[in-house]
Amino acid sequence: MDVFDAMGTAVTMRWLRPDPVPDELLDKLIWAGTRAASPENSQLWDFVVVRSPEQRARLHDAIVPDPVVLDPIRTSIERTHDPIKQRIFTGSLHLLETLRTAPVLIFICGSSLIPGDPREDRFMFSAIYGAAQNMLVAGRALGLGVSAISAHHRNVRAVRKILGVPDHTTVAVTMPVGFAARPYGTLKRKPIEDVIHYDHW
Ligand SMILES: Cc1cc2nc3c(=O)[nH]c(=O)nc-3n(C[C@H](O)[C@H](O)[C@H](O)COP(=O)(O)O)c2cc1C
Repeated sequence: MDVFDAMGTAVTMRWLRPDPVPDELLDKLIWAGTRAASPENSQLWDFVVVRSPEQRARLHDAIVPDPVVLDPIRTSIERTHDPIKQRIFTGSLHLLETLRTAPVLIFICGSSLIPGDPREDRFMFSAIYGAAQNMLVAGRALGLGVSAISAHHRNVRAVRKILGVPDHTTVAVTMPVGFAARPYGTLKRKPIEDVIHYDHW
């Protein structure tokens, strides 16, 4: 698949089939992530690839201890009249309700060259999101459904403990991965005319 076609259709795929994902595809996905740019090529990222159903269930239970905790998302779906937001919230809710059934959960983690230094932390996150974006595009090209979400923030302490993440390392992205259960569609983004400035703002 042409890289521009993959970029243009690398939607956040929140609907996944339960079929297992072959390790060769997961390796390709991680390979794509690790081709991202990073300050001084520091590459201070790690990828925790969770395939074990027990481990996925533990993570799901920690992140969504009770379906009631998702009520605020349900309320947002009911209250919004914006179809785009409604689609995003509905997908978000679905992901959180079905986290344990995603065939693979990848947690992208990052380390800061100087932990606690805001500049270094910014560098770390820039590199991590570059890796995540490469994985979204590669996932699309591989026929996978991939999303970069922040589900870990709902209970990051428990997620760290379950995964055994070292103290100096940040859990930055939760990435559910499987084969796509819905059509990819085309990304809806501002046209370049709205954001481009030639020679001067
Ligand atoms: C840093 C970051 C955090 C995100 N967190 C979530 C999330 O917690 N849940 C979710 O469903 N989507 C999450 N998303 C996905 C965005 O909602 C998505 O990129 C946006 O709606 C555009 O969707 P599209 O890429 O399918 O067009 C996140 C995206 C980024 C970059």
